[in-house]
Amino acid sequence: MSDSTPARIRRLSPADDADILAAFTVDTEMERQGDVTDLASAAKYREFLTNGDEGNCGFAVEIDGRCAGIVGINGATQHRLGWFFYWMHPDFRGRGLTGRAAATVANWALSEGSFDRLELGHRVNNPASGAVATAAGFIHEGTERQKFLIDGQRIDVFTYGRLSTDPVPETLPLPGLGSAVD
Ligand SMILES: CC(C)(COP(=O)(O)OP(=O)(O)OC[C@H]1O[C@@H](n2cnc3c(N)ncnc32)[C@H](O)[C@@H]1OP(=O)(O)O)[C@@H](O)C(=O)NCCC(=O)NCCS
Repeated sequence: MSDSTPARIRRLSPADDADILAAFTVDTEMERQGDVTDLASAAKYREFLTNGDEGNCGFAVEIDGRCAGIVGINGATQHRLGWFFYWMHPDFRGRGLTGRAAATVANWALSEGSFDRLELGHRVNNPASGAVATAAGFIHEGTERQKFLIDGQRIDVFTYGRLSTDPVPETLPLPGLGSAVD
């Protein structure tokens, strides 16, 4: 299959801090992704994802030369387990690129990476996140009932997992991850 999308996965770098800040600033939904309000906190967020502690790793989804989104894993190395997450700047959503990026990183993490299991959760009123999880080969495992209190309403969360023994999804991966982990 030909792939003309100008998107790739690569390591995060300090040069991405301004793009990270821009994504957190433009969308109030992003406040649930972390505490990023200025360049210093964007740098702290990026450092957390690249310091290698507990197998933490974060990758930029580069589109048109900028860090348009991130796919990351918060690791728990003792259990070869990782909490998987992703976000995309609103200007680049709806193109199927977060699903492809998430599939790329999950495929890598469960093969060449150090993880046997990845897990994630999303609010039931965030179906786009569920579509990304499915595109990345995650399997719906359950519901955490009324987990979050948001704007005075209790919200259920759907939980997902993907094991190294689960099938690799058919989602077309993005290029670049090989060089990102060299
Ligand atoms: C969730 C998020 C990552 C999706 O990013 P995106 O770039 O739009 O994702 P993609 O384009 O790769 O895929 C979106 C999918 O959601 C689907 N979708 C979008 N809105 C939907 C809706 N209201 N109902 C059902 N499906 C929906 C799209 O059809 C697409 O599925 P498809 O590829 O099977 O057609 C993005 O909205 C985001 O960053 N949100 C804020 C942070 C966040 O919520 N992160 C996830 C935390 S759990």
